[in-house]
Order: sequence, then structure tokens, then C-alpha cells
Amino acid sequence: MSSKPIAVVTGGAGFIGSHTVDRLVELGHRVVVLDDFRTGKRANLQRWLDPRHAFDGSDPALEIAVCDVSHGIFAALAPITAKYGRVERIVHLAAQVSVVASVANPLVDMAVNYGGTLHVLEYARAMGVAKVAFASSAAVYGDVETMPVGEDTPTQPVSPYGIDKLASELALDYYAVVHGVPTTALRFFNVYGPRQDPSSPYSGVISIFSDRAKAGLPLLIFGDGSQTRDFIYVGDVVRALVAAVGDGNSRLVANVGTGGEITVLELARTIVELCGGRSTIAHAPARGGEILKSRARVDRLRELGVVAETKLVDGLRATLA
Ligand code: NAD
Ligand code: UD1
Repeated sequence: MSSKPIAVVTGGAGFIGSHTVDRLVELGHRVVVLDDFRTGKRANLQRWLDPRHAFDGSDPALEIAVCDVSHGIFAALAPITAKYGRVERIVHLAAQVSVVASVANPLVDMAVNYGGTLHVLEYARAMGVAKVAFASSAAVYGDVETMPVGEDTPTQPVSPYGIDKLASELALDYYAVVHGVPTTALRFFNVYGPRQDPSSPYSGVISIFSDRAKAGLPLLIFGDGSQTRDFIYVGDVVRALVAAVGDGNSRLVANVGTGGEITVLELARTIVELCGGRSTIAHAPARGGEILKSRARVDRLRELGVVAETKLVDGLRATLA
């Protein structure tokens, strides 16, 4: 058995999580995924369970523990750390990810998205974890007039999801200052790419539009489609997460976006065109709790050594493939 330190990825069976696991394993980490599989899938991780990827021929590169982070992570990790030693780093991604679902059910959002973060931080404090990187969100800003949005823009979330991400950031800062746990919060803008699950009405817009446009079905835009988003490809987000969990920074808060924006109407037209132009575009009333405009300032991300490299049309092609 090799004594490689453990990198934990909560939510590692999900869309961004499984791409993060891929990269960490490729970089030679022993990775432990904590996930309760409410939206994540084992299939996203299957390749790393193959004995060909084991360390020293027998020691698996990846362990999976089924665990609801809102009930704590000590018990799930204990048998794994007993076998392999301590947890060195944690990428905390497990969350309820829909803004609209958080409006419908704020208590679930609080328990998972804020409570889950506290459980992760309590573990990090007790066990002396060297770094915690957290997936925050552009939703912490709320409706901002002036674009692009810098990290020092006053936060005024307009959804329970945004409130719980902001509360989690405050908790990260508290654990860093008072308990000496090094933390970084990354405020993801709209992430897209392969493995994003289109099956729920709350799924990310690019996954839904891609799925429907490939089948020639109509795309439904909520509102007039003039709302904008800064869509960033998952590969670029993973580079930011890997940099954040590996570095010696603490208390850093950084946007993770491209610095560009596109309207949802333009996005729909682009996807329809890339799929051969069969789908029509329809409109429904705008959804509650949503922001109108979103575009990141990315200077701080650049300081972390990361620049989004994937152009939207290339990322869309990869997603559609
Ligand atoms: P996803 O739904 O694919 O992944 C979330 C993962 O967390 C899933 O595997 C799910 O099973 C797991 N999970 C959910 N609740 C859990 C719980 N209580 N205990 C254990 N596991 C649980 O979503 P994603 O898009 O990959 O999101 C990952 C992170 O990035 C989330 O924290 C999300 O809020 C954040 N984020 C995503 C976006 C985006 O555009 N996708 C933007 C901003 C922030
Ligand atoms: C997304 C993320 C959220 C993240 C936030 C950061 C998902 C599911 N949500 O929220 O976790 O914190 O970015 O910026 O990934 N739309 C349509 N038709 C559809 C679906 C959506 O018009 O079929 C519109 C929505 O009304 C919205 C836009 O597309 O205006 C984006 O919606 P969505 O992909 O759900 O993401 P956000 O709400 O921005």
C-alpha cells in the first residue's frame, strides 16, 4: 500500500466533481469521493475503479463512500483514513445546485448547501486538513447593474441558493481566521460541458438545450431571452479547482468565469444551428429568483494562474458530441 495523502472530492460523482476526480487521479492523487448519488452517477467514475489504474497494481486510485454531507463526513471517512492515512485536501462540491429548486425548498438548500459546508469544515478543523477549496457561485452577487462583476461588488443574493453559498463563504473565512483552516472559495459562473445531466427541469440550460436540439425538439426560453450568462467550460473550471486546492493561499475568494457574456436567446440560436437547425424556439414566463445579467471579472482568477481557454462554440461542440 502506498502512503499517498488523500484528496477528498465531495459531490465527486456529479458533473463538475467527476471531471475534477479525473484530473486529480491523472495528477497522481489518491482520491476519495463522498457522494449520496442524488444527482451523481457511478458511471461518471467507473474508469478509475478498473484495477489497471490501481497504485502498485492493487491499491485503488479511487475510493467511493456513499455519504450525505448534511449528516457529517467523519463516519464515512474513518474506515478509509484507517487504511490509507490522513486527508490532506478537500474539494467541496456536494450541493443542491438549482437556484429555482432552492426557491421552492429553502430548508433543503440550507441543510445541504450550508449545513454540508459546516460539516466539511468541522472535519477539516478536527483533522488538520491542509486545504479546503469550495464551489461557491455567482448567485452570491444577486442582481448587479454594472458588468463585469468583481469580487468586491457588494453581495445581495436573491435566492436561498445564493444565501447559502454566501453563508458558506463566511463560514470558510471564519474557519480560516479563527481555526487556521486554509480555504479558497471559487465563485463559479455558469458551468457547462459533457456529463451535465439534462434530465431535470432544473438542469443547466446548455444541457437542456443541447439534449432537445439534438432530438429536433423545441427549446423553451424563460422570459424574452435577453438575460445574459457567462458560460465557462468544465475543463477550465477544473483547472481553477485543482490550482485552488493545491496552493498555499488562504481566504482567497475568486470568480471563475470567462469574462464574456451571451444572451439566452443567442445561446439557443447557436445551439439550434450547431444541431442542424431543426428545433424551434418558444418562450414561457420568466422564472422567479433569477438574475438578469451575469459576467465575471476574472483578474483574480488570472492571479491564481488560470485563464478560461475554451471558446463557447468549441465547448458547445464538445458537449454536443
Ligand atoms: P451536480 O448535481 O452534477 O453535482 C453535485 C453532486 O453532489 C452530485 O454528485 C450529487 O449526487 C452530490 N450531492 C448532492 N447533495 C449531496 C449531499 N447532501 N451529500 C452528498 N452528495 C451530495 O452539479 P454540478 O453542476 O457538478 O455542481 C457542483 C458544485 O458546483 C455545486 O456545489 C454547485 O452549487 C456548484 N456550482 C455549479 C455551477 C454550474 O453551473 N453547474 C455554477 C456555480 C456553482
Ligand atoms: C446556474 C447554476 C447554479 C449556479 C449559477 C451561477 C445549474 C442548474 N445552475 O444557475 O448552480 O450557481 O449558474 O451563475 O447549473 N433557461 C431557459 N430555458 C431552460 C432552462 C433555463 O430559458 O430550459 C434560462 C433560465 O431562465 C436562466 C438561464 O437560462 O435565465 C440559465 O439558467 P440555468 O442554467 O438554470 O442557470 P442559473 O439559474 O444561471
